[in-house]
Amino acid sequence: MSKVKTVFACQNCGYQAPKWLGKCPECGSWNSFVEEPLSPIVPGRPAPSIAIAGRDFPPQSIMTIETSDEGRLKTGVAEFDRVLGGGLVIGSIVLIGGDPGIGKSTLLLQALDKLARRGVSVLYVSGEESLRQTKMRADRIGVSSKDLYILAENSLEKIIDDAQKLKPRVAVIDSIQTVFTSQLQSAPGSIGQVRESAGKLMLLSKSTSLSTFLIGHVTKEGAIAGPRVLEHIVDTVLYFEGDRGHPYRILRAVKNRFGSTNEIGVFEMKDSGLEEVVNPSELFLAERPINVPGSVVISSMEGSRPILVELQALVSSTSYGMPRRTAIGVDPNRVSLLVAVLEKKVGMNLAQQDIFVNVAGGVRVEEPAVDLGVVSAVASSFLDKPIPSKTMVIGEVGLAGEVRGIHQAEVRIKEASKLGFKRCLLPMSNRSRIKLEFDGIELIGVSSVEEALETLF
Ligand code: TYD
Ligand code: MG
Repeated sequence: MSKVKTVFACQNCGYQAPKWLGKCPECGSWNSFVEEPLSPIVPGRPAPSIAIAGRDFPPQSIMTIETSDEGRLKTGVAEFDRVLGGGLVIGSIVLIGGDPGIGKSTLLLQALDKLARRGVSVLYVSGEESLRQTKMRADRIGVSSKDLYILAENSLEKIIDDAQKLKPRVAVIDSIQTVFTSQLQSAPGSIGQVRESAGKLMLLSKSTSLSTFLIGHVTKEGAIAGPRVLEHIVDTVLYFEGDRGHPYRILRAVKNRFGSTNEIGVFEMKDSGLEEVVNPSELFLAERPINVPGSVVISSMEGSRPILVELQALVSSTSYGMPRRTAIGVDPNRVSLLVAVLEKKVGMNLAQQDIFVNVAGGVRVEEPAVDLGVVSAVASSFLDKPIPSKTMVIGEVGLAGEVRGIHQAEVRIKEASKLGFKRCLLPMSNRSRIKLEFDGIELIGVSSVEEALETLF
């Protein structure tokens, strides 16, 4: 018996080496090498046949290529459609990543049901659950449309075969890591299999105008297994994120060939499945304590929408030599920097204080516009003085303690005004540019952290 020649492949980026390596020299991930057969193709196994329409044309002038108007298909889940850039592009391939149990299967089953109710034929391929398990979940969330077809299958050849017979317009592959082709010798879930399966499904999508969702599990490090490979292949990459302890889920676009990448969709996980959250600000502020030191309302732009969230800080004297700095929902490095600004520029003695910063509701905010909010919350907790509850604080803070202008200040103020806020602290440079009058909201421009804290306390 001849020995099978093997190679070691990085499961993150596909880099190959003749021996096992602890760290991938290509992408830097640790412990990602797995032994795979060197000649992965099984001889004599035919590839699934996909007839590609439109491939046998000679090169054409861009002006002569016709595009159809019915380019997008609305799923009917408004939050989902927005993240997709205004609906699902026909013939596109979308990767949805997220932690196990976050709600990926639930979301797509609900979206497919909405499509099927409008008469669009859809196919849900489950490689993880049996037909009965999928049906039980469907019953629980009230999914019942006769145009929704379920297939429990792992073989790529069978999936493609069935899809070509059924001719659905939208298909979901749940999950791409469970699909394997018998053409390759490597194990299901390995980088080679994932890449090959995704590639073939992509070909099928483009050739039959089938829109495909690929569900991808995320590894512990926060990356979809084989992320680089898949992110290159697909048109759109969405992440479904959220904190398991909170019911809120956020769908975020990280790559989109057909739309903006900074839109988010907000959902709430309920007993009967995922529900869209139409006004996220109201939800995130619902349980806010009133007139408590350390709490402040900030505004973060998520795509075209401003979202108001509560930021909390707790400052308490440390019992160790090394004070602790913990930040959840905001960048910890940013918090350290802002604490240093408070010490040096305002003279606040925080060296012997533990500082904890948290964004309520499990939300993550990444904009510099939240800086002034962090500074105010930390100062409020340290001084034990509350920030008035109807006040919103926005602005970027520089290392010299200056407050810098932010983008889209007016949109944020409008949202705050809608939610009944009475006062807004904002950068002076933004204040002087605002010509509009806002009903019942007082705008206070500040140009330094010191000035901001004087106004607040
Ligand atoms: P699921 O969609 O299976 O997650 P994924 O496909 O991302 O792994 O969601 C599973 C979790 O969601 C599960 O822990 C229970 C919860 N859940 C609800 O709270 N309500 C529901 O109606 C459903 C279907 C699930
Ligand atoms: Mg699932």
